[in-house]
Amino acid sequence: MGKSLSSVVNIADLREGARRRLPRAVFDYLDGGPDDEITLRDNRVAFQDIVFKPRHAVAIPKCDLGTSVLGIGLDLPFMLAPVGYSRLMHADGELGAARAAGRAGTAYILSTVSGYALEDVKAAASGPLFYQLYLIGGRGAGEAAIARARAAGYKALVITIDTPLAGNREKDFRNGAAQLIGKNPFAKLPYLPDVLMHPGWLAGHVIDGGMTHLPNVIIPGRGGMPLAQVNSSHSGSAVSWEDFPWIREQWRGPIVVKGVMTVEDARRSVDEGAAAIVVSNHGGRQLDSVDASIRALPAIAAAVGTQAEIWLDSGIRRGSDIVKALCLGAKAVICGRAYAYGLAAGGEPGIDKAIDILRNDLVRTLKLLGCARVSDLDRSYIALRRPEKFL
Ligand SMILES: Cc1cc2nc3c(=O)[nH]c(=O)nc-3n(C[C@H](O)[C@H](O)[C@H](O)COP(=O)(O)O)c2cc1C
Repeated sequence: MGKSLSSVVNIADLREGARRRLPRAVFDYLDGGPDDEITLRDNRVAFQDIVFKPRHAVAIPKCDLGTSVLGIGLDLPFMLAPVGYSRLMHADGELGAARAAGRAGTAYILSTVSGYALEDVKAAASGPLFYQLYLIGGRGAGEAAIARARAAGYKALVITIDTPLAGNREKDFRNGAAQLIGKNPFAKLPYLPDVLMHPGWLAGHVIDGGMTHLPNVIIPGRGGMPLAQVNSSHSGSAVSWEDFPWIREQWRGPIVVKGVMTVEDARRSVDEGAAAIVVSNHGGRQLDSVDASIRALPAIAAAVGTQAEIWLDSGIRRGSDIVKALCLGAKAVICGRAYAYGLAAGGEPGIDKAIDILRNDLVRTLKLLGCARVSDLDRSYIALRRPEKFL
């Protein structure tokens, strides 16, 4: 995208840039959701049910966007989410995300399904890093990754509990996503014309050497897990509550539970020692027809907000979405596609652009709302259009 990043106005423009640059199989993997994509759409629509109650004639020369998570000060109330296969979207991948987050004064959560080794991501980063854990490859692979994350200086372990298997993203089947990352060259043939239509992406991918293995999923005695095995491995290695005592033995630092949509799971997370929970439906990528995560937030914040930090993700595309989440009880939010579209459209500068857009949105929204600090945001700044829809 390069030069045209300067003409980007919002996250939707970055999405359009990603759509143009990526082969369909990669774009739909990034953009899409399972089944009928009901939750994917609802994650956006639900924000429309939250309306602002601005305080006018309030002078705000400067806004304070700072917050803290797990005792770590951040300059922004949003972090960058774990996005698997980022290196397939652009060779800058997870290294670019870690650098961009650090430059902006926020944290980056590295996915288990990363194209770069977690030590290399740490070496590139200047800000705090958290490691997201899937148990693909089993406990042996998990134990090795946890030990490496600890040694490298990752500050928290984020355990994703909503992925016992991959969601039914039908576009991935139609686009031949599995064939394209598989080993059989003949199986790829039907899908190659579309890839060849995207020479900018293809050249970057070839120069990068492709992404064939997962450097953070080392199966004892067998080495890095081949990409082609990832989907089938999810189903054999779901994280369950029974794994938590074992995980806590391996990891003495803060634990974050990601993928909480009910008060019951929030309470269980706290009982298992979570320092923070992420109210999340995985960006509408897992079980379709679950509620929008912003609708699940108030009840969860009311139930466990004094015992653990509450973070939220899913559907954040504007700074005003972040403000609404903070008003409803989130300490911070995490953004997935918002920055991943930027990465896919223009590499690391595209992530910088996404962060700039959200930061500028936040400042504008706070000033229009008459609130100088994100830490002052609360329910008094919003109203719910249909309160009964918020659990
Ligand atoms: C392409 C893609 C890959 C993802 N990979 C992971 C992952 O490896 N681990 C994880 O916990 N969440 C993963 N997520 C979910 C995000 O961490 C986050 O929950 C979600 O993107 C938030 O919704 P949003 O994209 O609407 O911001 C992924 C999301 C996307 C879009």
